[in-house]
Amino acid sequence: MAHDPLAWIEDELAQLEAAGLRTTIRTIESPMDAWVTIGGRRLLNFCANNYLGLANHPRLVAAAKAAADEFGVGPGAVRTIAGTTSLHVTLEERLAAFKHAEACITFQSGFTANLATIPALVGPGDVIFSDELNHASIIDACRLSRAKVVRYAHNDVADLAQQIANVGEMRRGLVVTDGVFSMDGDIAPLDAICDVVEAHGLILMVDDAHGEGVLGRGGRGIVDHFGLHGRVHVEVGTLSKAFGVVGGLVAGRRTVIEWLRQRGRPFLFSSAMTAPDVAACIEAVQLLEESDALVRRLWENAAWLRAGMQELGFDTGQSSTPILPLMLGDAPLAQRFSKMLFDEGLFAMAIGYPTVPMGKARIRVMNSAAHSRADLEQALEIFARVGRALEVID
Ligand SMILES: Cc1ncc(COP(=O)(O)O)c(C=O)c1O
Repeated sequence: MAHDPLAWIEDELAQLEAAGLRTTIRTIESPMDAWVTIGGRRLLNFCANNYLGLANHPRLVAAAKAAADEFGVGPGAVRTIAGTTSLHVTLEERLAAFKHAEACITFQSGFTANLATIPALVGPGDVIFSDELNHASIIDACRLSRAKVVRYAHNDVADLAQQIANVGEMRRGLVVTDGVFSMDGDIAPLDAICDVVEAHGLILMVDDAHGEGVLGRGGRGIVDHFGLHGRVHVEVGTLSKAFGVVGGLVAGRRTVIEWLRQRGRPFLFSSAMTAPDVAACIEAVQLLEESDALVRRLWENAAWLRAGMQELGFDTGQSSTPILPLMLGDAPLAQRFSKMLFDEGLFAMAIGYPTVPMGKARIRVMNSAAHSRADLEQALEIFARVGRALEVID
């Protein structure tokens, strides 16, 4: 029989299994909320990026339904051909106003926003300075651009300055960082990075996927958090986390946004967001403009749970945002921990390599404004039981 050219995949999968790195994908049978149904069981949900509980918010659901009635369900085309509806234009105007940016463009996801933006700004002969822990979509976008990539030490502004000095003359240079690092929950020192970038006349881009709707006044993001309006050239965000829907965005100067409309390849060559998605996002902006109550509740919940976890003796890493990593180190231990949580009625994923470095496996506990105090108390009891059973805490 001829050699099976795909036989290696079984071997690779078996190796992942043995190393405790094969992901089990759970199937959710209910709306995304503080509680979800999996395998017919109700579980406390500490897994989602649904920071503000908007994924199942009645106002967003109603807006999506109304848009489906008015515009149907499919975009029918890419944005530049026939995929731009009045809803898309409204969302972009509302987001720009919300973020105090000159203009905004939306994409199908945060991932495609990065893939569109970086290759549109730099190319062969240019240099990208990228934080070593940047998100996979930034890494892939950098590769696509074919610019030279120089990684600097995580959140280390002195190293960034040194790397820029080492390169010296360059045609165009881009500094790119996550705003909030999604696996550790720490915040990039964007103010200090901005000073260095300005001193060297480079372009500054931040991917604020986990800061959008979370950081800044009423969830206006990391640029607002640091008061850097007008100084950060490109602010990428996502509509799939705190905004509760799906989609990506880039906010910035009018010229940059127009350039992305002309040269952002996922904008030109992949179909638009659907009308129900866009309408739900508009409603999310409306909600955030009306009140910061959900953002405040998210931070209160996160502070309460972090304090409780630390009191129990868990190592909660470097986070200063609602992302709460329980650092366990060993990937099989993290998987066992997640499995036991699941058996106890709590859904929180183990994260291992390649999402985080080898030896830095963890349970990533995601807080949400949707959790009640009773939910948090119940969660803490479960974490304590599992932590003790696995001898992670005393
Ligand atoms: C920093 C960062 N950028 C981009 C993305 C991708 O966003 P989306 O899910 O909207 O594609 C994520 C989400 O995982 C992220 O954490």
